Amino acid sequence: MTKRRIGVLVSGRGSNLQAIMDKIAAENLPIEVAVVVSDKADAFALERAAQAGIPGKAVVRKNYSSKEEFENTIDGILREHNVELVVLAGFMRILTGNFIAKWRHKVINIHPALLPSFKGLDAQGQALEYGVKVAGCTVHFVDEGMDTGPIILQKVVPVMDDDTHDSLANRILVQEHLALPEAVKLWCEDKLEVKGRKVYIKK
Ligand code: GAR
Repeated sequence: MTKRRIGVLVSGRGSNLQAIMDKIAAENLPIEVAVVVSDKADAFALERAAQAGIPGKAVVRKNYSSKEEFENTIDGILREHNVELVVLAGFMRILTGNFIAKWRHKVINIHPALLPSFKGLDAQGQALEYGVKVAGCTVHFVDEGMDTGPIILQKVVPVMDDDTHDSLANRILVQEHLALPEAVKLWCEDKLEVKGRKVYIKK
């Protein structure tokens, strides 16, 4: 069976990348992580890719004179590797409308909050600060806004009275590691149908 080819964009430790690679291996899915692109040269995610024999590239913003040139470089790498789906797994930059338009409904992101609450940076800290009783994570298609695209999957965790930032973030992370690989699998099986803001999961 021909494998669906995905490209994963990262900025840091890459535990979500690892969860995707582990699910592909454990379930022998017809999906290949074709390339990992990091905007940080020292991201541990690049080491994880190397360990798994996956090509890894660092594309660092300051080495490009414009955001357009930076994004075009990423776009070029993804196309070079025949990527069909772009997965943002802890990629901490906003992609412009120009990039997104080229990859409409082909970019998905994991966010550590129950969107539309707590968009942007440190979602777990925002949830703790606000005093919500449940938190969680969201996998969504990326559109031109920040954390605003159609929602694919969400997973919920309780917030405990004695939670610290780390304890809550870790509880959410366990669910991220389930949600993101599941969403990748559904996309690769052509089971996601987007109608306006809604994503339907085909049986
Ligand atoms: C994850 O918690 C992910 O949800 C978050 O960064 C972390 C990356 O961890 N992403 C965002 O906040 C995006 N706005 P990882 O590098 O171990 O996968």
